[in-house]
Amino acid sequence: MSEFSLRKQGAEDVSASPQWDITFRSLTVGYGEHVVLRDINATLPGGKVSVILGGSGCGKSTLLRHIIGLSRPLGGSVHIGGQDMFALPPAQARRIRRRMGVLFQDGALLGALSLVQNVALPLTEHVRLPKAVIREAALRVLRLVGLEDFADYYPNQLSGGMRKRAGLARAIIAEPRILLCDEPTSGLDPITAARMDALLLSLHERFPDMSIVVVSHDLDSLRAIADHVLVLREGRAVFSGSLEALETCDDPYLRQFLRREADAGDVAAQDSESDPRVRRAIAAWLDA
Ligand SMILES: Nc1ncnc2c1ncn2[C@@H]1O[C@H](COP(=O)(O)OP(=O)(O)OP(=O)(O)O)[C@@H](O)[C@H]1O
Ligand SMILES: [Mg+2]
Repeated sequence: MSEFSLRKQGAEDVSASPQWDITFRSLTVGYGEHVVLRDINATLPGGKVSVILGGSGCGKSTLLRHIIGLSRPLGGSVHIGGQDMFALPPAQARRIRRRMGVLFQDGALLGALSLVQNVALPLTEHVRLPKAVIREAALRVLRLVGLEDFADYYPNQLSGGMRKRAGLARAIIAEPRILLCDEPTSGLDPITAARMDALLLSLHERFPDMSIVVVSHDLDSLRAIADHVLVLREGRAVFSGSLEALETCDDPYLRQFLRREADAGDVAAQDSESDPRVRRAIAAWLDA
């Protein structure tokens, strides 16, 4: 059994359900008038590693905000373990959200707190335990991510990769059923990024009941960790299925995306006639 005992806490508790699927039904999200994603229908299966893939600015973090409940949908619904998160009584939705751990895109560590204090925050804020017990719990998850020796360092004394691992330790300290990671490998060199992938995989092995959702645009990471993939493009979900199904699908856009090809028109510097007056003026200046 894993170190995290994923307890059954009562008949009506969703943690009693065998799986913690995250399902989007006709989900439309955005900010005010600005629709970012429209009519998303997909399920991220419980107990698996799902990767939400898409180009920069396509709405990956926005979708994550709706899973966490930081934003309300413009339309449609988000279901977790079969429960409609925005239709549930708030107290019940909060109980489900308490079982989520989040690694934010920038790590979101507080600069004034040491690593061990940052990692302990979810416990110090929500449970009453002696300080020494909380510190020990924080050291245990720091050990899991290989940062125990840096427990008393401050975030600005750490590398970007270390900050991300510390963010991950904080995300798992309260024994989540769903771990959400926003771009855990962005900004990391390939070796450090591969280490982060290996760390996520080892967490998955250690806590097989935990659903892991990773937002990424890193194809190497995708291939290393994904069981399930949701691809977003131009405001839509264009694929939701297994990694194998993605690798073998014949959709031209997805094939291009997986081979990292760019549209020539997207990247080529535009050739355009220069103004002969400008050319003459430059020539005159160079000859002067
Ligand atoms: N708080 C906000 N208010 C208004 N618009 C926002 C807000 N946050 C994001 N957006 C807009 O929503 C769209 C999607 O942004 P989002 O951050 O979800 O993209 P992303 O896929 O996570 O990008 P990246 O890969 O660069 O992190 C963008 O057009 C962005 O400008
Ligand atoms: Mg983002």
